[in-house]
Amino acid sequence: MASLSSTALPAVLGARLLAQPARWLVTGSAGFIGSHLVETLLKLDQTVISLDNFATGHRRNLDEVRSLVAPEQWLRHRFIEADICDLDACHEACRTVDFVLHQAALGSVPRSLANPVATNAANVDGFLNLLVAARDAGVKRFVYAASSSTYGDHPALPKVEDRIGRPLSPYAVSKLVNELYAEVFARCYAFPSIGLRYFNVFGARQDPEGAYAAVIPRWTRALLLGEQVTINGDGETSRDFCFVDNAVQANLLAATTTDPAALNQVYNVAVDDRTTLNRLFEILRDALSTFRPEVMQMQPAYADFRPGDVRHSQADIAKAGRLLHYLPSHRLAEGVQAAIPWYVSRFGVADGVR
Ligand SMILES: NC(=O)c1ccc[n+]([C@@H]2O[C@H](COP(=O)([O-])OP(=O)(O)OC[C@H]3O[C@@H](n4cnc5c(N)ncnc54)[C@H](O)[C@@H]3O)[C@@H](O)[C@H]2O)c1
Repeated sequence: MASLSSTALPAVLGARLLAQPARWLVTGSAGFIGSHLVETLLKLDQTVISLDNFATGHRRNLDEVRSLVAPEQWLRHRFIEADICDLDACHEACRTVDFVLHQAALGSVPRSLANPVATNAANVDGFLNLLVAARDAGVKRFVYAASSSTYGDHPALPKVEDRIGRPLSPYAVSKLVNELYAEVFARCYAFPSIGLRYFNVFGARQDPEGAYAAVIPRWTRALLLGEQVTINGDGETSRDFCFVDNAVQANLLAATTTDPAALNQVYNVAVDDRTTLNRLFEILRDALSTFRPEVMQMQPAYADFRPGDVRHSQADIAKAGRLLHYLPSHRLAEGVQAAIPWYVSRFGVADGVR
């Protein structure tokens, strides 16, 4: 029997799902956010089909989910190894599901600058395939990962959904195109969708390795291994860091809302807070000092600003609160406390562990 306390979801949302088990497709399930969606849904006794091509995700993330759910819950999961650029595979994955949570994409602004064609193929062609397949299958709701990068060069803070600027990277273009297609599918085919503009999501299983790793896993790994942390720019660049449980909550609320006014909209998903990179470094260093006291001696190095990066980012989350009843369960510091044990267990800490 599922336990509501096993998730940070609002009790009413968990109870709603437990009372009405459904069939879900989660794409990008071997990745960071997708694997958390699969884990939460299985813990709520849902049936989950999940799809990934391991472009950036890992089989070990699904193995970890398997270890965290009950054996009978894992039996309700079916994995499809496929590329969303394969329309037949998208049709097969959507065939019997009620809800789609579409996460599969190539993330990272620098990756898209280095290889815009690959980003476009996964994020635009793949997105359109999945949208078509979901429409053809008559799924009840298509919830997709949009991005704060859509705000581009718009200077206003905090960011409000209907005021966007021009995109600053191929990645931002691809995520804006997702929103445009979703909007057109609502208008032309009455196909219901909701886009979630994530702002710097972080948590366990976010990949710390490789050139395109996000800042929190990259720095956490470096601090644990005693390696130099490099800040791009002067460290006063700021972000609205969003713990993954908040993103999971937003997905499940978006999929299950019965309010017609909430459909065919995009929503900011974050905390409505802003933390500079300099402050983030201190927060991570403090949190890790429990496990590795020597980190308190470490100082960051500074490098050039990265092209394509926006200077400041902070989400106005009033719309998600009003229409989806979204209420973040974790702020940055709480999320860091919740995520760090995973990184500690992943990288071990040889000497200096308390
Ligand atoms: N993490 C963030 O801060 C953040 C912020 C804004 C938007 N997003 C979006 O959220 C979604 C999930 O991001 P994440 O952080 O979990 O990234 P991730 O890289 O951990 O997960 C993405 C998954 O998609 C899979 N994938 C990529 N291309 C695919 C393809 N062609 N076919 C099938 N699977 C494919 C990858 O293998 C990976 O497992 C992405 O759409 C991303 O653009 C993330």
